[in-house]
Amino acid sequence: MTTQNKEYQSIINNIRHFFDAKENDFIPLHAPNFKGNEKKYLNECIDSTFVSSVGPFVDRIEKDICNYTGSKFAIACSNGTSALHIALKLSNVEHGDLVITQPFSFIATVNAISYCGGIPVFVDIDEHTLSLSPEKLKTFLENECEISNNSCIHIKTQKKIKACVPMHTFGFCADMDEINRICNDYRIAVVEDAAESLGSYYKGKHSGIFGKFGTISFNGNKTITAGGGGVILCQDENLAKMAKHLTTQAKVPHAWEFFHDQVGYNYRMPNLNAALLCAQLEQIDQFLTEKRTLSKQYENLFSQYANLKFLTEPENQQSNYWLCSVLFPNKEERDTFLKMANDQKTMCRPGWELLFTLPMFENHCVMTDCSTAIDIQSRLVNIPSSPYYPRL
Ligand SMILES: Cc1ncc(COP(=O)(O)O)c(C=O)c1O
Repeated sequence: MTTQNKEYQSIINNIRHFFDAKENDFIPLHAPNFKGNEKKYLNECIDSTFVSSVGPFVDRIEKDICNYTGSKFAIACSNGTSALHIALKLSNVEHGDLVITQPFSFIATVNAISYCGGIPVFVDIDEHTLSLSPEKLKTFLENECEISNNSCIHIKTQKKIKACVPMHTFGFCADMDEINRICNDYRIAVVEDAAESLGSYYKGKHSGIFGKFGTISFNGNKTITAGGGGVILCQDENLAKMAKHLTTQAKVPHAWEFFHDQVGYNYRMPNLNAALLCAQLEQIDQFLTEKRTLSKQYENLFSQYANLKFLTEPENQQSNYWLCSVLFPNKEERDTFLKMANDQKTMCRPGWELLFTLPMFENHCVMTDCSTAIDIQSRLVNIPSSPYYPRL
């Protein structure tokens, strides 16, 4: 074994030790924990027969999410992707419009743009937040766009830029003050993809409440889960009403009549999922504390290796440390570590493939300088980040 590989072996041993893993135990990247009222609420839900998209747990989770995030309104959805789709529709993204986002994100961010017929503009990420870079955003808008008739126009394509979707990567928040200020100057709506950042705070306020809309995911791999679920956050009563209407098949409320005033979507969160989520949200403080403790252990561990960098929360923020990340010196080293760890049942994975390299976007996007994203993507590894084990 080379000295380098000996170092990696020692790191893997330490990770396994943090999770109290026996020789053949598999350590997942992120697994849910159901030690609270989950079964009780699910039984209540089943006994009530209200398992579908209307029910008391749906009403309760919308209130609970407002209380937790400080958002004025919350609309529970079937998942984070559907929540983002509706947020973009209500930001007037239409066929042929441009939408700015980052190339380093999960596919759902750009899929939601595509569902509206929008075309992504890929703007680079910041090396500390791993999220949309306000500097690169400003450079792109100043050099390649202009305001005409109160809209932002991309000069080369003559298309309108309707929205900007920063994504709070792995729980680190984008610099929302700067992004809001720049987008406001250019008349661009901000929709935060906060899928990964429940429990993350920027300058003391919860992520997802800075933009016109924010959307969160409650997929099984997230900090808390509904099985599948999402939520739209917004601060405007009319927009909240429209979001609820669109996600409910655009049905005009009536005790027995079926009148739908536009094309709507079956995007509401079922009561069954909301029941699970209510129980999960009750435990979020404990999950977050456990994740912070784990992140400190990792920080101490990786501080012993000059060639590796454990990523810690950016200034003025409190991260949920949804997925902990380490930067390797280069792609080859990253791949050596990935192979060693995964061979030893210690689930680690690289960051997502950059979105502009995927077949449906490579010739269907506006590209800008994405050198930071290219560098980070080639060197980053996510390491096991579940909160549940061994301390819970
Ligand atoms: C950045 C990002 N956006 C959107 C989503 C979509 O959420 P969902 O899987 O609930 O549709 C996810 C996660 O799954 C995500 O990580």
